[in-house]
Amino acid sequence: MNHTPSQTQAFFNSLKSSWSQKSSSSTQKAFGQGSLEALLFPSFISLESAQRESKGISIQIGAQNAHFEKSGAFTGEVSAPMLQELGIKWALVGHSERRQFFGETSESAGKRCLGLLTQNMKVMLCVGELKSERESGQTKKVLEAQLSHGLPQGIEPYLDGRLVLAYEPVWAIGTGLTASPEQAEEAHQIIRRWLWDRYGMESSGRTRILYGGSVTPENCDSLLKCPNVDGALVGGASLKHESFLTLIESGGKSAL
Ligand code: PGA
Repeated sequence: MNHTPSQTQAFFNSLKSSWSQKSSSSTQKAFGQGSLEALLFPSFISLESAQRESKGISIQIGAQNAHFEKSGAFTGEVSAPMLQELGIKWALVGHSERRQFFGETSESAGKRCLGLLTQNMKVMLCVGELKSERESGQTKKVLEAQLSHGLPQGIEPYLDGRLVLAYEPVWAIGTGLTASPEQAEEAHQIIRRWLWDRYGMESSGRTRILYGGSVTPENCDSLLKCPNVDGALVGGASLKHESFLTLIESGGKSAL
């Protein structure tokens, strides 16, 4: 719940004026080859502004949530056709703040995932354990339960890049406590192995797994070096255009 429509416009104006000086040729090459993607997920009210202002730079826009039904009596929700009318193709699902503060569950995340994918959206599903779950050795069990509900039957055809997973340990989100590269890699290996066991090598390889939780321009390179970390999902450090651009540069370096 950051950036009003006019703040979003100002963010993009600054981003665009720095883009050509700050964006290196290798990052541009990675965008051109399709080995790098950059997305921004503003709040619903700022989507239109972001979509309009991002024209001409390699940033795609996504929504922070979306409902699985096409339309209906679901006050407060937004559907895939509404987003698609603005040209929005991506939605986040199951962010820990949705689970923690708004009663969403792995089951409802699973419904959103499948419903949105079948309506031609691309989805980024977030999973991650609480601090107490990590401390009591439950991380693997929690992740596997979130995945098995979050990826319901029928999801397999979409494991070709249209579904992206984000491992976001809840204790690391907005706390300044980043997982170490070793902790991130270990959790990503659990997720990759779960995908492999269930859907095979190809689907597991094509499903990108991002790390999120206090990622900054300072720690991003070391996290992206981990073999099973395919990208980053960033909150606080993406709010200022300068650090957002630096994070994209980290992505560009690791994509080559
Ligand atoms: P953070 O947020 O980068 O500020 O920890 C991550 C998130 O909200 O997904």
